[in-house]
Amino acid sequence: MPKPHSASRRGEDTHLLVVGATGTLLPAVHAATSRGDLVTAVTRSPIALRDLAHRTRGRVRPFVRDYEDPGLGAALAEASRARPFTGALLYCPLASPLTVQALVDAVPRNRPVVLLLTSAHAAPTAETEEGPAWSPARLPRDSRPSPGCRLLVLGWARGAGAARWHTADEISAAALAVLDAAAPRDAVLGEVRPWAARPR
Ligand SMILES: NC(=O)c1ccc[n+]([C@@H]2O[C@H](COP(=O)([O-])OP(=O)(O)OC[C@H]3O[C@@H](n4cnc5c(N)ncnc54)[C@H](OP(=O)(O)O)[C@@H]3O)[C@@H](O)[C@H]2O)c1
Repeated sequence: MPKPHSASRRGEDTHLLVVGATGTLLPAVHAATSRGDLVTAVTRSPIALRDLAHRTRGRVRPFVRDYEDPGLGAALAEASRARPFTGALLYCPLASPLTVQALVDAVPRNRPVVLLLTSAHAAPTAETEEGPAWSPARLPRDSRPSPGCRLLVLGWARGAGAARWHTADEISAAALAVLDAAAPRDAVLGEVRPWAARPR
């Protein structure tokens, strides 16, 4: 079986698929393009993408589309025909499971895909009660759209005073760290317990 590997090995044509590229993952797009990666960025806004392509000197390829529109898989296949995706960062908390599957399937199997999950995925249930320990191993099996997909669960930062949500910079840095890890792994950014301490 081919070994999974990083999306960012030097000396190869890195091509990342990024969903959420003009929002939470904007700092990740800037970091990736600064190190020479090509990024195909999915959003509905052509103006924001044109601006991003300009600011990254063409390292961002606009993929203007509502990801729920039919034909996503075929459009992604076309966008990666000449240069296959070498990895993906997916922040799409409102996307349907079929859409998430199409995004994951657009990337060759042995390449890293990071799916960001909101803290709601770590909410206590009858099976995963409130308690000091929580890890992504407690997520239901269907949280992972494909066996090799890496999950990043977004928690909150404890901070000096009240807890706060993470910034786009913090989320982007964590997402890139999971993407670049040599071996597949899941991660939690910040805290998800005690549940009652989350920011309101
Ligand atoms: N810790 C947590 O659990 C947690 C959870 C959620 C949010 N947050 C924080 O809250 C802030 C706001 O998050 P947000 O959820 O509003 O997301 P966001 O990342 O600020 O914006 C959503 C991104 O996805 C794109 N997008 C949305 N719907 C799309 C669609 N149907 N098709 C294609 N692209 C689509 C948007 O572009 P277009 O609108 O142009 O399509 C944009 O790039 C973030 O900065 C984050 O720090 C934290």
